[in-house]
Amino acid sequence: MAFEKVGVVGLGTMGAGIAEVFARAGIRVIGVEADAEALARGRGHLERSTGRALDKGRLTAEEREAILGRVTLTTAREDLADADLVIEAIPEVLEYKVALFADLDRICKPETVLATNTSSLPVTAIAAATGRPKRVIGMHFFNPAPVMKLVEVVGTILTEDGLLEEVSHLAWQLGKTAVVVGDLAGFVVNRLLLPYLNHAAVLLEHGVARRDDIDAAMRKGVGLPMGPFALLDLIGLDTAYEIMGVLFGETRSTRHAPAPLLRELVGAGLLGRKTGRGFYDQDGPAPAEAWKAHVTGVTVHGEGAEEFAARLDAAGFRASDTPDLVLRLGERPVIEHAVRHADPSRVVGIHLVGQGVAEVVSTVLTSPEAAGAAAGLMTVLGLTAVPCKDRAGFVADALLFAHLNDAVRMHASGYASIDDIDTAMRLGCGYPAGPFEMLERIGLRKVRDGLRALYAEYREPSFAPAALLDQLVAAGLPAFPRA
Ligand code: 3HC
Repeated sequence: MAFEKVGVVGLGTMGAGIAEVFARAGIRVIGVEADAEALARGRGHLERSTGRALDKGRLTAEEREAILGRVTLTTAREDLADADLVIEAIPEVLEYKVALFADLDRICKPETVLATNTSSLPVTAIAAATGRPKRVIGMHFFNPAPVMKLVEVVGTILTEDGLLEEVSHLAWQLGKTAVVVGDLAGFVVNRLLLPYLNHAAVLLEHGVARRDDIDAAMRKGVGLPMGPFALLDLIGLDTAYEIMGVLFGETRSTRHAPAPLLRELVGAGLLGRKTGRGFYDQDGPAPAEAWKAHVTGVTVHGEGAEEFAARLDAAGFRASDTPDLVLRLGERPVIEHAVRHADPSRVVGIHLVGQGVAEVVSTVLTSPEAAGAAAGLMTVLGLTAVPCKDRAGFVADALLFAHLNDAVRMHASGYASIDDIDTAMRLGCGYPAGPFEMLERIGLRKVRDGLRALYAEYREPSFAPAALLDQLVAAGLPAFPRA
């Protein structure tokens, strides 16, 4: 079937972005909002987004006019009567959605496909609230919708044959890639992404590292496009909290328990970009911290010590018999090495992440002066210093390995293929590589051993290596078998 006229109900950040995506693809759009004020806000989103593209030279003035001209804005749902497809992007409250779909079912012609952009609510329950459950699906876009190339197309046990293929074809016409999934809370992306973001909030809350340092570790060390707190601000802390609540309600796993810090920020109305403040104040960047290196002598111990000492030497820091700083690379806990040293207050752990980040690890005995000096030394070497506590996985490995483990479990559960998971995370979240590609690059054994260490220290059941990962390592296989 041809989708020539598309309705979008709810013109917040996501709805307006979805309307823009369709209008850009030459499809007529009817945008519906509850009242004139909300409609004006929706128009503002569309004008700003296309205005920015115009300023950047990505659109001509004529193209922009044509896109905006394809969008009709209205407060009358009845205007959707002859739409071929209606996508709902209203707040994440099941009762609102169920009521809206019942109304759309009454208003729209019988062939109209009704789609929800829900992040985590059950599509099946929404479908069952209509008289056309076989033509109700999920069509889940990613923020910012005009940029992110993924659409999760969600089918239920009620969906009619062929519809998911038609909608996937439509996604392709929009310049997106569809990943077809079943109706499981969070689908692929949110089910993997949100627990990782929530985990970052837990580490922050426990004081393992600071906000900017955690973001820097994941962006500059792991290579993700945004750090977890910048991304939480983009998604909206209320949305993130709701998704975690739905996941926890379903799994009762401590991995899915929403971080209390999230709840507090949501309670304070600090929801992220949409309210101007969340983890970050959107008005201005935090002042960069200047680390000063007051180091007269340094020694390096542990795995890779020689190579690292040579780097320091090249930067003008000579090894000394009377060091004021002792750097410990490799094996942790750092504290076990520190207590063997004459002056544990000078011992700082160093863990390199990717090419550009050094986690600078303080134990309970490390002096603030030694930690500051070590961080300064890392910046002299051209590395971004991420000060953190002596905890399993420090920051980057703790967040990343647990995230990758979730992906293995998801695949092993039969919910999604390796390729679909990798595609979804690359296109939905801008990852440089999918979770399985990352796992194979890092090395399955290294990730498995890192997870064992995490589990041994935190006793969090979800950190225990997935059975499939364990078996592949035991079998000596370097990669996951693809179908
Ligand atoms: N609206 C429209 N376009 C936008 C935009 C926005 N809000 N933000 C950025 N863009 C465009 C820019 O105009 C630019 O386009 P151009 O190349 O044509 O000029 C392009 O995106 C790149 O933007 P920038 O150069 O300004 O910025 P970056 O290179 O830093 O990229 C980013 C920004 C694309 C947002 C990138 O950081 C990224 O991929 N981040 C990850 C985002 C993510 O994970 N999204 C998914 C969240 S989960 C979700 O949405 C599901 C929900 O249910 C919770």
